Amino acid sequence: MIIPTGGFPGGLSPILFENGIPVLAEMDEQPFCMDVSDAISRVTTNTAGFIVTHLAGRIQPDLEKLRRYCTKEGLFLMEDASHAHGASIAGNKAGSLVDAACFSFYPTKIKTSLANGMITTDSKELAELARSLRHHGQGGPRNEFNYLASDWCMSEIHAAVGACQLQELDEQVAHRNQVVQWYRDRLGHLDWLMIPEHGEEIVHAYYKLPTLLHSDIDRDELQQKLEVKHGIQNGNIYYPPCHLQPVHQERFGGTIGLFPIAEKALARQFCPPVHASITKEDVDHVVKILTARVQECWKPDRS
Ligand SMILES: Cc1ncc(COP(=O)(O)O)c(C=O)c1O
Repeated sequence: MIIPTGGFPGGLSPILFENGIPVLAEMDEQPFCMDVSDAISRVTTNTAGFIVTHLAGRIQPDLEKLRRYCTKEGLFLMEDASHAHGASIAGNKAGSLVDAACFSFYPTKIKTSLANGMITTDSKELAELARSLRHHGQGGPRNEFNYLASDWCMSEIHAAVGACQLQELDEQVAHRNQVVQWYRDRLGHLDWLMIPEHGEEIVHAYYKLPTLLHSDIDRDELQQKLEVKHGIQNGNIYYPPCHLQPVHQERFGGTIGLFPIAEKALARQFCPPVHASITKEDVDHVVKILTARVQECWKPDRS
């Protein structure tokens, strides 16, 4: 399976557990998603398909091009929509765009069931297989045990929490878009911080707002100052990229320079706080501290 190096490092595990081989692909400098042309260039006769991640809640660019390619070549295409609850493109929701999708409902996600997740598909066969696998591989007309699996059922309590949470999904996505607009109004004109744009056909879920800092800014120092000195929690998305994570480094011969765009972009990525209860006044405060503190973090001489 082909999967972006700039995604969730744990996303490679299911492929490896099934004795598959994850093949990493480069990412775009922005909006930090998989580079579809690079991914397609890695296809061989052994390729089963692709898993794309709607990173930070932004629908994977060129997804339609990839979908058409997969249909033509008979390859499987899956969305990791863990960041993209409520995101859409041209009115079509994340989770309904290709062969199948997975969602995480981990507590930090836009909506949560406190644990577990969800698979969506419009394939009857795949849905039946997923239902069987979630309960020890049991199913079919005679309710036999047909597959090696485990107990991956969501408890009713977790499902009830998730169902309640989902009722406020659209409201939550609208709030996050409003917060990002406040950041755009205040930071959009700066030449040291770039906020990626997207077309009007996209509804971005803004699980996070990944921005790109000027390459002379010491991102780690800036993050540290905001967090430790000012209590402003901020973040970035999965750094370093998968090929440089200890668990995978040896497997991929993961030397620096293997995926230069992902390495450079992720090292400069900075996510100001976006969450369910952040207010306009909070955004003003974050912007004030950020613009004051960044002055101390310019390191043009770093090698
Ligand atoms: C993009 C992505 N995929 C998958 C996962 C895994 O989700 P879970 O912890 O619910 O298994 C995460 C979790 O952070 C994620 O961010």
